[in-house]
Amino acid sequence: MLTFISVVGARPNFMKVAPLHRALLPHADRVQHLICHTGQHYDEKMSKVFFEDLELPQPDIYLGVGSGSHAEQTARVMVEFEKVCLEHQPDLVIVVGDVNSTLACSVTAAKLHIPVAHVEAGLRSFDRDMPEEINRMVTDVIADYLFVTEDAGMRNLRHEGVAEEKIFFVGHVMIDSLSYYREKAALSPALAEFDLLPKAYTLVTLHRPSNVDVKENLEKILSIFEAIQEQTRFIFPVHPRTRNRIAEFGLQQRFDAITSLTLCDPIGYLDFLKLMDNAALILTDSGGIQEESTWLQVPCVTLRESTERPVTAEVGTNEVVGLSVPLAVEKSRAALNGSAKRGNIPELWDGKAAERIVKILLEKLSK
Ligand code: UD1
Repeated sequence: MLTFISVVGARPNFMKVAPLHRALLPHADRVQHLICHTGQHYDEKMSKVFFEDLELPQPDIYLGVGSGSHAEQTARVMVEFEKVCLEHQPDLVIVVGDVNSTLACSVTAAKLHIPVAHVEAGLRSFDRDMPEEINRMVTDVIADYLFVTEDAGMRNLRHEGVAEEKIFFVGHVMIDSLSYYREKAALSPALAEFDLLPKAYTLVTLHRPSNVDVKENLEKILSIFEAIQEQTRFIFPVHPRTRNRIAEFGLQQRFDAITSLTLCDPIGYLDFLKLMDNAALILTDSGGIQEESTWLQVPCVTLRESTERPVTAEVGTNEVVGLSVPLAVEKSRAALNGSAKRGNIPELWDGKAAERIVKILLEKLSK
């Protein structure tokens, strides 16, 4: 019997592990699949609600590390995850994405000579000011199996000299969840709850430190909302980091003055999918939402200088505008007027990535 441990830590991890878990279930006679939650995200609305929406079983292992500086958080995960590896002696550790838990668990496993699979490998923003860029690079150097979502990821890994036999272009597990849950999400009451009409509102998400931890940048983003406020309603589920900064910078009043803007708590997976699917426009600085909007073919304006997911801009609906207020306003207005660029669905984003990954892993690791 093989033992695989999949690591989840932060909100964008849960929807990536859910399809892997589902794809491993038919192989339960060969693989014991354990889910380890590091506790990087711990609020009910950042974690528990996702387990319920995604029908994930309770984590087998919970490390409870909580928040802290990068070093504190990463170190706490490493100390606790080492004990987990020593106890369970897994044949494989699966990490997803680019959060601190991804880095911490891949380093810990590699030092214990446990093979590591990195799902969503090869993405590069080429901006080392992003903590995620460091996490991506370190994880990819260490990983034994690198599962890639888009062509740029293949190119980056080859350019960095990663051996060809370690790299697999499989599509995107996050899109597996999106396609699996889209119908169920359509039943969510989220639009009625916020009194929104389909295709008549802008969905906003913001949490990147470079945007929300710098007062001047958060003010620029406010100017974008102010410029288009007559043309659209906004719904803005606020990440805890952003909520703290709005209060700290004394910007709450300016947000409140935009009467068409509704701020709310973070939202669960199904309700959020319903809000994405029915938006006229998504304004975001998230990595994953650039991809989800591309797959849903909803116009997306990304308030970042770069993207590690270029297929979303080259093939999909994404416009990466940085913090240029005029450009963000121009692209937003185009979307609200129905004249945004049209997008296509990237190669292999077909809902079957997890099955491909499991097939490869079972071939490689069979005992
Ligand atoms: C983390 C990831 C980021 C990902 C994001 C998604 C890293 C380096 N960053 O950023 O890549 O896009 O998650 O949400 O791993 N907090 C709470 N409750 C929680 C979690 C956090 O209140 O459940 C607050 C704490 O004040 C904490 C702050 O949010 O200090 C930031 O949390 P942290 O996990 O450090 O980083 P994120 O900004 O969430």
